[in-house]
Amino acid sequence: MKAHSRIAAAALAALLSQPALAADDCTRIPDAPTLTDFPTLPASIVKDPAMEERIARIVAGMTLRQKIGQMTQPEIQSITPAQVREHYIGSVLNGGGSWPGNRKQATVADWLALADAFWDASMSTDAKVKVPVIWGIDAVHGNNNVLGATLFPHNIGLGAAHDACLLRRIGEATAKQVRTTGQDWTFAPTLAVVRDDRWGRSYEGYSELPSITRAYAREIVLGLQGTPQGASAKVPGVLATAKHFLGDGGTERGIDQGITRASRAELANIHAPGHIAAVQAGVQTVMVSFSSWADGASGKPIKMHGNESLITGVLKGRLGFDGLVVSDWNGHGQVPGCDDASCAAAVNAGIDVFMVPQKWRQFIDNTVSQVEKGTIPMSRIDDAVTRILRVKMRAGLFDAPKPSQRAGAGKADGLQDRDLARQAVRESLVLLKNNGRVLPLARDKKVLVVGRSADNLPNQTGGWSITWQGNENTNADFPNATSVLAGIRQALGDDKVVYDLSGRGIDVSQFGAVIAVIGEGAYAEGKGDVPTLANPFESDLSLLKRVSGKGVPVVTVLMSGRPLYVTPEINRSDAFIAAWLPGTEGQGIADLLFRKADGSVAYDFTGRLSYSWPKSACQTPVNHGDGKSPLFAYGYGLTVKDAKDLAPLDEVAGPASCD
Ligand code: GLC
Repeated sequence: MKAHSRIAAAALAALLSQPALAADDCTRIPDAPTLTDFPTLPASIVKDPAMEERIARIVAGMTLRQKIGQMTQPEIQSITPAQVREHYIGSVLNGGGSWPGNRKQATVADWLALADAFWDASMSTDAKVKVPVIWGIDAVHGNNNVLGATLFPHNIGLGAAHDACLLRRIGEATAKQVRTTGQDWTFAPTLAVVRDDRWGRSYEGYSELPSITRAYAREIVLGLQGTPQGASAKVPGVLATAKHFLGDGGTERGIDQGITRASRAELANIHAPGHIAAVQAGVQTVMVSFSSWADGASGKPIKMHGNESLITGVLKGRLGFDGLVVSDWNGHGQVPGCDDASCAAAVNAGIDVFMVPQKWRQFIDNTVSQVEKGTIPMSRIDDAVTRILRVKMRAGLFDAPKPSQRAGAGKADGLQDRDLARQAVRESLVLLKNNGRVLPLARDKKVLVVGRSADNLPNQTGGWSITWQGNENTNADFPNATSVLAGIRQALGDDKVVYDLSGRGIDVSQFGAVIAVIGEGAYAEGKGDVPTLANPFESDLSLLKRVSGKGVPVVTVLMSGRPLYVTPEINRSDAFIAAWLPGTEGQGIADLLFRKADGSVAYDFTGRLSYSWPKSACQTPVNHGDGKSPLFAYGYGLTVKDAKDLAPLDEVAGPASCD
């Protein structure tokens, strides 16, 4: 066995031999082990001595400005390729809703042309050794900024699927989609363990418990990056990002970028298992959380972007992470005494790459002078640049051609994964009620489809879809997508389907069933924070009052980024499905609504809640094991074989805001 394959075999053995994660067994979702503290782990990828020597030589030959340029990540609307060359920029990003030429309709060719321009610029600096630039993008449920891409269900729905093997396949598909447009790095997966569903990013989490998040983290990272191979343990896919380190899903009242008050052991046991698994799977980048951590009831909140103990002490120390740590969008600017253009404290805390969308010039100048004054030791800068170069070399970028010349770039169907996404939709649906076993419906009767989300692709795909918030789009922005209504029409034929948004003035009795598709709109981050878990659209309930009680079964499909208090809506439905944010493949819902033509069951429901469902609008936080009694418990989900009907539920009028 050659030396390099011995190293690779050792690396893989080291990676897979960890007691925490069984080798390559995606069919199981074991409970997360109980930790007394963060574990001390061996490096998940054995360093390649030759690579490390090469890196050291390059770093030794770099000027301070070249080093700080490597640590700076501007947004593509604020920097030109010429400036990437002039300032030795190491990476760029496009934020949600930012496209080449700032055109939503940018084509694959436009994405590739800009990626090539940045690459060419980085490879034509006057540095002794040219260091290729890398481009980070939020491909968090498919390559969701790009027109026409297949979008998978958001993570909350994938959590309900309880299928870690599916996540490996979604990771592989997402890597393919990202390669198609020429990026090297996706800011995914989000590994938040969500404890209060008022948080606007609840749908970006897989679950309220760490077990699913931990099992999924390994699979999605290996799917995105590929398994470390070869002497330099190259990651053949795209770079993945474990985010947001640490405790983003635990903030008080679910306030985005708020304070997570937890003991160190709670932090380790609830919020860290996904990150630990990602590190063990060889994740090459970790993004820091905007949130603060307060150690226990009396601890002083410390912004994660300035927390050296957790970033350097735990992540880089105990967990042995040897990739790069990236800040979130000007997150360093929230550290006391800092602003978007200057934060020695965040550099010294252990952040290696700074996402400085606009003020990147000032950041470079300020950081150079902070090193020259000794506020930041050169050893910290050299460590950061060493990590950046290590990640780029492991990604094979020093030997790669420009983005448009790489395997998969520009492939016509590179953005399409419709069958896989449709399967993911099917597996994500949770059947909460099925009285009289009305589902699956026969195909021989006409159906009336109503509701605000039946033919609304922005509602169906949610935030991080074409744009950041996802709510500035129309169906025309999703040319390759299928709405729930279109999926039902494909299943039954147009002649059997009548659609009406409100159901007003329609004689329901002429139909075999009513299908009501209701729910939240699209939102992202703090703009999705809510004061209670009440359904924000009262029109949903008035719609159901209008069409129910007519002797025709009502099947309600809820699109939402979180569990909601919808007991009144459930009471006025014969069947009720939690569909989360299913993405572009609405046919996946029709697949489970109808029997086959011969009357047999086509697909049964397999989804089970990965979040507890609240009994009232203010029963939050409510999580498995907290002693509270939710309306539907973690793990709940019916199949069409379950014969037990749901009795009428107590309806609890909620206040305008909780606590
Ligand atoms: C956002 C998000 C982060 C994302 C980054 C770049 O603020 O917090 O998840 O990756 O900015 O878009």
